[in-house]
Amino acid sequence: MPDLCELAEWDSHFFSIRIARATADRVVGDDMVRIMQWCSTNRIDCLYFLSTADDASTVRQLEDNHFRFVDVRLTFERTPLGLPSAEQEPFSGSVRQCVPGDIPYLKAIAKAAYRDTRFYFDPNFSLALCDALYETWIEKSCLGYADAVLVYETDEKRPAGYVTCHSLDSDHGQIGLVGVALEAQGRGVGRHLVSHAVRWFADQGIRRVSVVTQARNWRAQRLYQHCGFLTTSVKLWYHRWFMP
Ligand SMILES: CC(C)(COP(=O)(O)OP(=O)(O)OC[C@H]1O[C@@H](n2cnc3c(N)ncnc32)[C@H](O)[C@@H]1OP(=O)(O)O)[C@@H](O)C(=O)NCCC(=O)NCCS
Repeated sequence: MPDLCELAEWDSHFFSIRIARATADRVVGDDMVRIMQWCSTNRIDCLYFLSTADDASTVRQLEDNHFRFVDVRLTFERTPLGLPSAEQEPFSGSVRQCVPGDIPYLKAIAKAAYRDTRFYFDPNFSLALCDALYETWIEKSCLGYADAVLVYETDEKRPAGYVTCHSLDSDHGQIGLVGVALEAQGRGVGRHLVSHAVRWFADQGIRRVSVVTQARNWRAQRLYQHCGFLTTSVKLWYHRWFMP
């Protein structure tokens, strides 16, 4: 019988504790007993569980077993109905591919941008490590983890926003991180960045683009909705801690 959990090696290394993730999105039969045994045998400190939102029994079992709700995960997808038009709107600054000199600017944006995510919502993860997680993520993205990082540069040539693009396969791309510096928000930068990302994917022959965000991040949802994305999936994130 296959294991119902797997070690999350990168997360364990980064947070210096033993973190695992459940491999299924629902709990059936004696799954919960097996999950708890696996975590005990593997000395897990924290288990991530990404649950389906439509199975009351799974949610009840997670709650009964002290899993803490931390996030509603929304996936949006853009149907291939043509390219968004934001690029035609009046706009100061420009969007271009990232260069190594952008990294300190992008890290400074990322450090403050993701307070809506499950890591910040869970008080067992320290603020400093959560900040460092997103700084690391954007830096790695610029260094090749992402297939492209598009950067918004002000007229003064200062990087003030980014979007990361991942080609998952020949038909499907995913936007990873989007971030706009606080002082540049509300001026259409986000829309321009997402529009350029959709165009970047189209140039690679990829028309189906998805992006994930949190239900509590209504600004991001409006951004993706403005850019023609529709909701395709709703899931619930839980964390189960085993540390005292
Ligand atoms: C979500 C985020 C990327 C949006 O970026 P943004 O640049 O502020 O987004 P936009 O300016 O394109 O759109 C925001 C609002 O400004 C409005 N706007 C766009 N151009 C404008 C202009 N020229 N003048 C005034 N308002 C404008 C938009 O209509 C939109 O308002 P609405 O949603 O009420 O209609 C930004 O808030 C951010 O970085 N948040 C933190 C990180 C994050 O949550 N990332 C997404 C999850 S990975």
